[in-house]
Amino acid sequence: MKLFVAMLAGILLLAGCSPSSKKKEFNIIPYPVELSEGAGAFDLSANVKHAIRIGDADEALIDYLINVVKKEQGLELSTCKQGKIQFEINSELQLPKEGYLLSVTTKGVSITANERVGLFYAIQTLRQLIQIDEKGKATIPVVEIKDYPRFAWRGMHLDVSRHVFSVTEIKQFIDYLAMNKLNTMHWHLVDDQGWRLEIKKYPKLTEIGGWRDKVGFEANQKKGLNTDDGKPYGGFYTQEQVKEVVAYASERHITIVPEIELPGHSAAALVAYPEYYCDNAGELEIWSQAGVSAGVYCAGKESTFKFLEDVLTETMELFPSEYIHIGGDETPKDTWLACPKCKKRMKEVKAHDEHELQSYFVGRIEKFLSKNGRRLIGWDEILDGGLAPNAAVMSWRGVAGGVKAAEAGHDVVMTPMFPYYFNHVQNHVPNAPGHPGISTLRDVYTFPSIPADISPENRKHIIGVQANIWTEYIPKFEHIQYNVFPRLFAISEVAWSQQTRPWEDFYSRVQNKFPILERYGINYGKISYHVGINVKPQYEANSAEIEFIAERPLPIYYTTDGSEPTQTSITYEGKFVLSQNAHIKACQFKPDGTTTNISEKEINFHKAFGKSYDMKYNHAPQYDGGGKFGLTNGFLGVWIGVEEKPVDVTIDLGTETEITKINSRFKNQPMSWVFGPNTITYSVSLDGKHFKEVATFNPGITESDVNEIVTYPAEFATEKVRYVRILAESVGVCPDWHPAAGGKAWLFADEIIVE
Ligand code: ACM
Ligand code: ZN
Repeated sequence: MKLFVAMLAGILLLAGCSPSSKKKEFNIIPYPVELSEGAGAFDLSANVKHAIRIGDADEALIDYLINVVKKEQGLELSTCKQGKIQFEINSELQLPKEGYLLSVTTKGVSITANERVGLFYAIQTLRQLIQIDEKGKATIPVVEIKDYPRFAWRGMHLDVSRHVFSVTEIKQFIDYLAMNKLNTMHWHLVDDQGWRLEIKKYPKLTEIGGWRDKVGFEANQKKGLNTDDGKPYGGFYTQEQVKEVVAYASERHITIVPEIELPGHSAAALVAYPEYYCDNAGELEIWSQAGVSAGVYCAGKESTFKFLEDVLTETMELFPSEYIHIGGDETPKDTWLACPKCKKRMKEVKAHDEHELQSYFVGRIEKFLSKNGRRLIGWDEILDGGLAPNAAVMSWRGVAGGVKAAEAGHDVVMTPMFPYYFNHVQNHVPNAPGHPGISTLRDVYTFPSIPADISPENRKHIIGVQANIWTEYIPKFEHIQYNVFPRLFAISEVAWSQQTRPWEDFYSRVQNKFPILERYGINYGKISYHVGINVKPQYEANSAEIEFIAERPLPIYYTTDGSEPTQTSITYEGKFVLSQNAHIKACQFKPDGTTTNISEKEINFHKAFGKSYDMKYNHAPQYDGGGKFGLTNGFLGVWIGVEEKPVDVTIDLGTETEITKINSRFKNQPMSWVFGPNTITYSVSLDGKHFKEVATFNPGITESDVNEIVTYPAEFATEKVRYVRILAESVGVCPDWHPAAGGKAWLFADEIIVE
């Protein structure tokens, strides 16, 4: 219980809500750079009739302020020549871009900035300063604030291809961003599942490409999130609607960065205009399921580039953004390798492989955008095969792509899928919308947005952070709200504040935002009772340090023998070290004594613990098993993912070692394109050259909708060995019966246990 009491005391102190404390509450998100409080408060209730002096603000700003205060506090503020809330623009003011000064005295409020945007952000702070007491009296505490953002790019993305959202909903989404001082909306307008942007020159893009045969994404119907009436599903935004949305955003100081995916994720466009697909590459359809289709533009046809330049020309006319996002992720290149025109192009441009052909493709688009005064940004795959220096990179497969890009001098936006993909669930509420994989509010808040291993001189290339929301499993706007809140508060503070504050401080401020979300009618996610288990292996000592992380200031109970924790189990009091095999289970309990989820981790100090290994085929950067020793780090449940190729690993035990057992674990989840191994062989060697086979398995392919972990334990007469090789053959591509037949299959491997 000790920890609980200490944490609770900490929160009371920080929040200043102990009855005897005079400390004021400043529940501002994102927290300002400098805040110094004074004595007393400005009496807003006494001044509602003469609240606002327009000064250097404009009608739209003042209307905005009046509307939010009415909505959030129920106060009807008026403007007046002698208004006590004053706005001033002073272009001489020495303040970083987008900054503002906000000064509250007992007599009034003064807001100063060097541009309109600063006034807008000051309003976002001001609305959070207003306090209403039990008698309904409104005051603003005396305070001096100086504030400006950490990052120039403070983004939130929205996928409207997988599911479509109305213009009204898009505007609400923009409001959420603006209220949290984000300044960029990345609008994912096109993908395999639908094209959503009207292009006058190519009307079939929306007439045909905007519609699929049904809403699809069966998992949503299984969860009860929506129904599939079997009717065509789709829609698009007209150019008039887009202009309206861009203007709405601009007034709120939000730049909309449109994304036109190329060369892959383009099935919807290619169903509408098959002439830009490789000849004889087969039929495409507009998908109503997750995954990556084979819809990739032909790189060999000049007409493809003409088409894309026309599309981008109309896109640039609609979106004044400096950056245009061109996608570039997850491009299957099989059609290129089989296409005479693409092969001819490869020769012509001296592309040594298909990755260099993609680099050529992206390079041409980059030149076109540059010529039009714009900058290209794309997903981190655009680094493969070389990239124009002026192009910027969005790091989504973890942070490694971002580090590599920054070191090469490219500007980078950090958007690693864990924790910045808000389509991952944030709690363990059954049937919650979103993809499997948890990313809690705390994960988002505490993640280091600038990786420690970037050299100091290249840190400036990290221009921002962004959260993304992919909508395969987020069919309705209420689900967008649920997955975005409260995590939007966390990305807001990460993006804006110079540094984040202790978790307990943030947690306390977030609590105070829930009533406001309710006033807005926003459906928000509940803070989880999830306990994260961090394992830090200590290879030399043959031990591991264990740390539990929870969001709520409640006790954490745990066991190490695999039994279910109860409220009489051990109470966590801080990090501890384990040196025996263990099966940890940990949880928090809700006030009613139930728990939503028990976290677990198995730790095994086996003979390959912490031993280095070679992999013949690299794992994908986003599935690295937790780092360099992903297959030998002693703990289970963090996966290495290899696409299409075998997992072929040779572990070096360092010295001659007697072994009698090998075990390995794989995932088998065919509907997520993850298949268990087709065959698996263990062999051992003393010299690393001559191997002796000790076990083999032929599990084959599971033809069903299972989601399981499969293990392959083998026991044999004692062998004296130094090297252990595991060769797990992949099924390669999804088989004929699979919805994504022919698509590259994944092989996911976990710890390899040697005893
Ligand atoms: C991505 O998530 N494929 C960028
Ligand atoms: Zn081709």
